[in-house]
Amino acid sequence: MIKYLGSKRRLVPVLGALCEAAGARRALDLFTGTTRVAQEFKRRGAHVTAVDTARYSEVFAQCYVALDGATAARSELRAALADLAARPGVDGYVTETFCERSRFFQPHNGRRIDAIRDAIEADHRGSWMYPVLLTSLVEAADRVDSTTGVQMAYVKQWAPRSYKPLELRLPELVAGTGTSVRADACEVARALGSFDLAYLDPPYNQHRYFTNYHVWETLVAWDAPEHYGVACKRVDARDAGTRSVFNQRRAMPDALAQVIASVDAEVLVVSYNNESWVAVEELEAMCAARGDAVRTLGFPSRRYVGARIGIHNPQGERVGTVSHLENLEYLVCAGPPSLVDRVAGAAAGIPAGITPRG
Ligand SMILES: C[S@@+](CC[C@H](N)C(=O)[O-])C[C@H]1O[C@@H](n2cnc3c(N)ncnc32)[C@H](O)[C@@H]1O
Repeated sequence: MIKYLGSKRRLVPVLGALCEAAGARRALDLFTGTTRVAQEFKRRGAHVTAVDTARYSEVFAQCYVALDGATAARSELRAALADLAARPGVDGYVTETFCERSRFFQPHNGRRIDAIRDAIEADHRGSWMYPVLLTSLVEAADRVDSTTGVQMAYVKQWAPRSYKPLELRLPELVAGTGTSVRADACEVARALGSFDLAYLDPPYNQHRYFTNYHVWETLVAWDAPEHYGVACKRVDARDAGTRSVFNQRRAMPDALAQVIASVDAEVLVVSYNNESWVAVEELEAMCAARGDAVRTLGFPSRRYVGARIGIHNPQGERVGTVSHLENLEYLVCAGPPSLVDRVAGAAAGIPAGITPRG
């Protein structure tokens, strides 16, 4: 899976246990990102609906959530990946934009990304394999990029991993069923149907996913956009339509309260961290307004790798240090009292440094 700001890798076992304790047959992952949480819900036997605004996230969800790994023909996928991997590199948009004008990839990998992406479009568009092959390419590119994990900048000296040759791997498909939806959570929350468990993991501050992962947006859209700035961001990053209300300090709390009120789920679990614009008490109040019992679990977690490396300017030069290297992740659980107790009790059995608050 790709490096991703706010990804809940460490909480996956806990969230899986919550899903199982809730007996969830239908689960919602409303800000699915890498889809790692949705995948875990699926592994625990739920039919999962995975929602996000990002193009790459939709492709990941088509690959890992919507596609049934029990029936997907892996031999066909392996043959397609071998064919793509053998394509000779070509000079294209990625080489020019992300290897020469900027330095996200070394040219030997950029030329292969161009060739493979062209071939996926020409030979596999419309096929069930398309999102799997695209996921494989994005994940391969992520393993050889030259960033600290976000694409607002690349590092000044080539990252050691960027010297490695691009390697296409077969994504680890998950057995079961699910649905992928590319949409704004605020617009669709009410219409998605009813769920046994809904997990909400929205952005909580000014960091925009659209610009932090603009290279993946472009690799999926394959639309050779005009770009600007040192990081060669897509020009549509300036459009209002690519902005999320969750990155706007004043509008975010109301939007979050609205989404929490709109989701039709017996148990609601909301992720939160102490670097957010809203206080955990505000979040608990939003959940309690549904008429639910609320319990909050706290988990110490190391901060994102970029924060540990330091603060960099767009040229990738270190310009400052970060103030602290640990933060607290919370899971606010809401629902009928006995169910919330059961769910919170199950999470407490998982060794992840839990401090129940409520
Ligand atoms: C904190 S990340 C989620 C990380 C995810 N749980 C994981 O483990 O990979 C927040 C996600 O919300 C998405 N997002 C931002 N605004 C959104 C909106 N209005 N509706 C739906 N998704 C949105 C971003 O694209 C990003 O993937």
